[in-house]
Amino acid sequence: MDTYKKLLLANRAWTQEKLTLRPDFFERLSREQKPEFLWIGCSDSRVPAEEITGTQPGELFVHRNIANLVVHTDFNLLSVLQYAVDHLKVKHIIVCGHYGCGGVKAAMGHQRLGLLNKWLRAIKDLYHLHRDELEIQEDVSKRTNRLVELNVIEQVHNLAKTSIVQYAWHTEHRPSLHGWVYGLDTGVLQDLLMVTPDAKMDDIYRFDMEELKADKHHP
Ligand code: CO
Repeated sequence: MDTYKKLLLANRAWTQEKLTLRPDFFERLSREQKPEFLWIGCSDSRVPAEEITGTQPGELFVHRNIANLVVHTDFNLLSVLQYAVDHLKVKHIIVCGHYGCGGVKAAMGHQRLGLLNKWLRAIKDLYHLHRDELEIQEDVSKRTNRLVELNVIEQVHNLAKTSIVQYAWHTEHRPSLHGWVYGLDTGVLQDLLMVTPDAKMDDIYRFDMEELKADKHHP
């Protein structure tokens, strides 16, 4: 059988299973979504957001890209962020990286990878910034994994620098920002950091709240 056909068959089995447990499962979900969490993860096929967190359809609003980056000019990410924060009113945003990330490995290399080089440039900048700490570690896979952690921390701070998050912090005292890292070889999620709505930040990144309030389309 063609491999793709297995997916469609598995879908039929899955719908039956859900309906057996709860006959109105899909009918209820189709009415609305009220997820409490926005998940920003890596596209890697081995890090399925719902499965590793034991969450069900309707619980996670998900954005995934290579190396779980929060780039302040990425309209895709920003649209997801704005919708999740302003309309869905999520309480938590989780940036989840993973050890052994191919995107982070590629950023540490020197290969020409076309568009991917441009996407991953932010990680090279991060390496440059933390070169001393990273190069103390002689083991390349441990060095990669430290850069994975530093990357998650940086992306959480990038969220805090957006007017979208700052506005919600000011007006509704949410969401909390979380940085997690997943072990491909253990299945374990580790909590690296949490940034709460009263967090301090370098003043240069802070937006004037009165101006934001006056502008309905603030981002
Ligand atoms: Co990855």
